[in-house]
Amino acid sequence: MSTSLIILAAGQGTRMQSDMPKVLHRIAHAPLLAHAMHAGAALEPERVIVVAGHGAELVEAAVAEIDKTAQVVIQEDRLGTGHAVLQARDAMKGAEGNAIILYGDTPFIQPETLAAMTEARSRHAVVVLGFEPEDPARYGRLFMDGDSLEAIVEYKDATEAQRAIPLCNSGVICADLRQLFSLLDEVGNDNAAGEYYLTDIVAIARQQGLSCGVVRCDEAETMGVNSRADLAAAEAAFQARKRAEALENGVTLTAPETVHFAWDTWVGRDATVEPFVVFGPGVTVETGAQIRAFSHLEGCHVSTGAQVGPYARLRPGAELANNAKVGNFCEVKNAEIGEGAKVNHLSYIGDASIGEAANIGAGTITCNYDGVFKHRTEVGARAFIGSNTMLVAPVTVGAEALTASGSVITEDVPAGDLALGRSRQANKPGLARKLMDRLRAAKAAKQESK
Ligand code: UD1
Ligand code: MG
Repeated sequence: MSTSLIILAAGQGTRMQSDMPKVLHRIAHAPLLAHAMHAGAALEPERVIVVAGHGAELVEAAVAEIDKTAQVVIQEDRLGTGHAVLQARDAMKGAEGNAIILYGDTPFIQPETLAAMTEARSRHAVVVLGFEPEDPARYGRLFMDGDSLEAIVEYKDATEAQRAIPLCNSGVICADLRQLFSLLDEVGNDNAAGEYYLTDIVAIARQQGLSCGVVRCDEAETMGVNSRADLAAAEAAFQARKRAEALENGVTLTAPETVHFAWDTWVGRDATVEPFVVFGPGVTVETGAQIRAFSHLEGCHVSTGAQVGPYARLRPGAELANNAKVGNFCEVKNAEIGEGAKVNHLSYIGDASIGEAANIGAGTITCNYDGVFKHRTEVGARAFIGSNTMLVAPVTVGAEALTASGSVITEDVPAGDLALGRSRQANKPGLARKLMDRLRAAKAAKQESK
């Protein structure tokens, strides 16, 4: 049976103290909203509808980046979660099967949990994701009769006895799409908040003789973000989980608590990541690669056996082939470093391709930018680029060619040639000593006249 997602993201998030809508604040480099959408994406949803309100244009732009097929609908007045879901009705016309309602500010719901909910739909018309928090605080309470969910009672409307129920509503609900909207038609706003509560569909379903049930999850999954402190706590929780996952998958982390992953970082088995490595989005590191301390990687691919750092920076489009090496204080951007090639010290390699087994000497710079355009540098296989070579792009150095140290290479170098692009050295016999003597004498004369 197919499933569609309705993601509620209209809230302002006042407590974030931000000009940006709450759901666009990031955890591990992805907006909160993206985390919720990624969890749902595992179900291969037929449709994805995001209900936006506060900062809708910004939310719309973010959604387009996360999932081009997702649609944004606007909730003009925020009259409650039930009202929010109803805004998705037109966009869902013609869709069939399950609807899953998620919150854009609740990033950690696991795909397996959502799958368990769709599975439970074979027994119940409405399935609610429940959890038992350490502190049930102001969550809605799930009123059960045995295994049957009878009603969700909002904290504001609950009696003392109901508030004593430990089982709470996470907010995630799964129901048949058509039934969901027809149940919502029956929901009113005669309650303590004066809102249209999505949660009221449970009691209404029961009145109609429909079965309702609960799937339970860990409190960690339902963690919501309402403040900057929550955001920091959510980031920490994400990092802790990602580190544990990496260790479990056979990655060596010598100081796991110091490594920061992005939401999509992928590190292969038997890779090593040393202390204080930071991953931006879009990084894949293959088996056996070594990422040494204090390196920063983003939008790049590191192949088997390659070595990065310490203190290296790989920027978007850096592509390291097997056994390539990028050493300390090197920056690589939009460049392929061929198999076994070495860029070991103090270099900038941008908009370039470095052939296999080439050696790039210390301090080599690809001068890729003329102030307006970017240009490419090509270095052939087994070429040897002398230390402190400026490769003024566009320029090509052929296979097995050599550039002399300190050269400014402005013309292509044919394969196998030696390029010398520097002025010839002249030695003046004894002149150094003479010069120093003259300067010291001048200094002494100055001090005497004081
Ligand atoms: C809701 C549930 C409560 C549950 C809790 C879990 C209802 C009535 N109550 O309460 O049972 O325990 O979540 O966190 O559903 N939103 C909109 N438009 C609106 C109102 C809300 O898009 O008009 C969005 C918010 O941005 C938020 C989500 O829906 O992402 C939940 O709204 P919120 O106001 O936080 O609901 P709670 O009162 O916490
Ligand atoms: Mg809330």
